[in-house]
Amino acid sequence: MSKMDVPYKIYLDESEIPSTWYNVRADMKNKPAPLIHPGTHKPLTFEEMRPIFCDELIKQELDNETRDVPIPEAIQNFYRMYRPSPLIHAEFLEKALDTPAKIFYKFEGSNTSGSHKLNSAIAQAYYAKEQGLKGVTTETGAGQWGTALSMASAFFGIDCKVFMVKVSYEQKPFRREVMRTYGASVTPSPSMDTEIGKKINEDNPGTTGSLGCAISEAVEVATKTEGYRYVLGSVLNQVVLHQSVIGMETMTACKKYDIKPDIVIGCAGGGSNLGGLISPFVGEKLRGEADYRIIAVEPASCPSLTRGKFAYDYADLGMVCPMAKMYTLGHGFIPSANHAGGLRYHGMSPVLSQLYHDGLMEAVSVEQTSVFEAATLFARTEGILPAPESGHAIRAAIDEALKCKESGEEKTIVFGLTGTGYFDMKAYEQFNDGTMTDRMPTDEELEKGFAGIPEIDL
Ligand SMILES: Cc1ncc(COP(=O)(O)O)c(C=O)c1O
Repeated sequence: MSKMDVPYKIYLDESEIPSTWYNVRADMKNKPAPLIHPGTHKPLTFEEMRPIFCDELIKQELDNETRDVPIPEAIQNFYRMYRPSPLIHAEFLEKALDTPAKIFYKFEGSNTSGSHKLNSAIAQAYYAKEQGLKGVTTETGAGQWGTALSMASAFFGIDCKVFMVKVSYEQKPFRREVMRTYGASVTPSPSMDTEIGKKINEDNPGTTGSLGCAISEAVEVATKTEGYRYVLGSVLNQVVLHQSVIGMETMTACKKYDIKPDIVIGCAGGGSNLGGLISPFVGEKLRGEADYRIIAVEPASCPSLTRGKFAYDYADLGMVCPMAKMYTLGHGFIPSANHAGGLRYHGMSPVLSQLYHDGLMEAVSVEQTSVFEAATLFARTEGILPAPESGHAIRAAIDEALKCKESGEEKTIVFGLTGTGYFDMKAYEQFNDGTMTDRMPTDEELEKGFAGIPEIDL
């Protein structure tokens, strides 16, 4: 294909939406460690996972070998509603920073759910429907995943029960109403509707909840309700697989316009958007075809990669879920109530954890006021009002661009702009009022979380 002048907004053709997902595990020499049973500590088999997850999704979870996984036609059709998403040249931001760096961002917020989460939600709802299930249960932090799953479930006509981290439920009442409009039921977590929720409330009076705790509740309801399964919006291998559409489109756009990224940046909560964005780039790196600096950005208040331990840990507070080998702050760690609800998870995707452990990816942590400074500058220059989670990637991209200003290097930076922040105005209000604070866990607080990590020798 001939190379063209790079437009401000790169829209691919509909025919360039991928028809397969790319499974980066196929190219990884050191595969992510398998999920293990919380009781026996043995790798989980297909049969053992069946009471929790949908059959086809388990197959995807366990498959470390198939490189290109066909995307079913019904999912491809749904993707056409909002994909391909644009890769945008941040010319106005570059100008404001007076940097020689070239900055591009892949914008995943232009669908109604407002984020990248819909890419996996529609896949998971499709497989649940195909299996003849009545419905799905899930957790949501910022509310973006719950919204995406509500939309996807409505599309395929299945029920959707969402446990929403209490702090987000209270901060974002309208997010809850969007989910209910799409037909989902929404319960603040920890609730008094489940055994585990009651226990967590008793043990931690007044808790604002966490993703780990909402997961336990959603799993309990799925396993106790006939015809339901639990679905998860991040962390798992299958979710990184679905999110690879982000990276594949980005790669296609880059190749079409001869853009050669030096640095690829994304925010990391459970790791799904970053995992998806970087998958094809890491693939080239693993196969020795190209080199990229890859940077994961996490909040200083929940620093699983930069300050966590690489170990098997429980995925949830209630210790009922499969255990994963990942960078973790301990399943009992409850981060301070910062505004990036979607980045408040104690662990990290096993795929990203392994890549980080093997030195294929870097990680930085950033404080929330500096994130909002970056997000505000971005809104005023590029026009899009970003989600606080996405603001983390913007912060790191700006920092790298400012380094280029110092050194005079003309690096090309690509980052993932995962979503919009219209439901996060409480956070922006605090920032605008000057009342936002930064809260980093002390070493002692981290030690408490680490003390809960079980010792497992496999
Ligand atoms: C807008 C947005 N970006 C990023 C994330 C982080 O999730 P992940 O690390 O799985 O991409 C979330 C999670 O809720 C989100 O809502």
